[in-house]
Amino acid sequence: MAIALDPLLGLAQSLAADAAALLAERLDEPRSEVRTKSSPTDMVSEVDHASERLIVDGIRRARPDDGILSEEGASAEGSTGLRWVIDPLDGTTDFLYGHPGFAVSIAVEREGRTVVGVVHDPVHEEVFTAIRGGGAARNGASIAPSGATELASALVATGFAYEPERRRAQARALTEILPRVRDIRRMGAAAVDLCSVACGRVDAYFERGLNHWDLAAGALIAEEAGALVARLEPNPAAPDGIVAATPAVLEPLRALLAEAGA
Ligand code: IPD
Ligand code: CA
Ligand code: CA
Repeated sequence: MAIALDPLLGLAQSLAADAAALLAERLDEPRSEVRTKSSPTDMVSEVDHASERLIVDGIRRARPDDGILSEEGASAEGSTGLRWVIDPLDGTTDFLYGHPGFAVSIAVEREGRTVVGVVHDPVHEEVFTAIRGGGAARNGASIAPSGATELASALVATGFAYEPERRRAQARALTEILPRVRDIRRMGAAAVDLCSVACGRVDAYFERGLNHWDLAAGALIAEEAGALVARLEPNPAAPDGIVAATPAVLEPLRALLAEAGA
């Protein structure tokens, strides 16, 4: 029997709303528990863990047999063919500085394919949602990417890796990219960047070295809104990546990224 997606979206939205409320509540508290992960710039706080606990407990209560993959370590195999992919706080650096732009990201995969996505930004009170085949919305209203047709006038978002050597290469590639687009944005949360492509707030976004939880929900939202989303193949110097854009900009941007070694 096919699993109905609406109740899954409902659960994802309600858990994302609870987690987003927790982030908003704890935004201004003094930080005693900040640690670093892959590099000195890759931070994680007690709030990342608290948000994950809240979401994962909610899934386990409502759907104990589903699989789980979450950034801060929660995982479960599952036996239903469904898996929840969670970034409990995307944009930890923004969050820890009190800088708006962080969000909660929750996706549901069915047999390995994302079918539901929710990205909730508590500061801007924006909830992006999508169901595969059902379009994408912001706070319930349908969204679409920008009508940009020229790469030269495209506003392009990106993100930087946590390792210093990768950053050096990314900065070098930008010296080729920046003169050939309208401008670059580095907002600090991959999930929100993909939603920004989805609603036309930027014309395109690219980044390498993301984890699955960074992009699972946002990529579905961008695609369902009508943007094109493609994979950047890994190369000897860099891990794989994602590029998302309003349709006319995707191919020219891909070509520029290849030329710039991005
Ligand atoms: C990070 C953000 C950032 C991106 C990094 C991610 P985190 O996630 O999405 O925009 O550039 O690659 O790791 O660590 O804040 O959850
Ligand atoms: Ca993330
Ligand atoms: Ca995170």
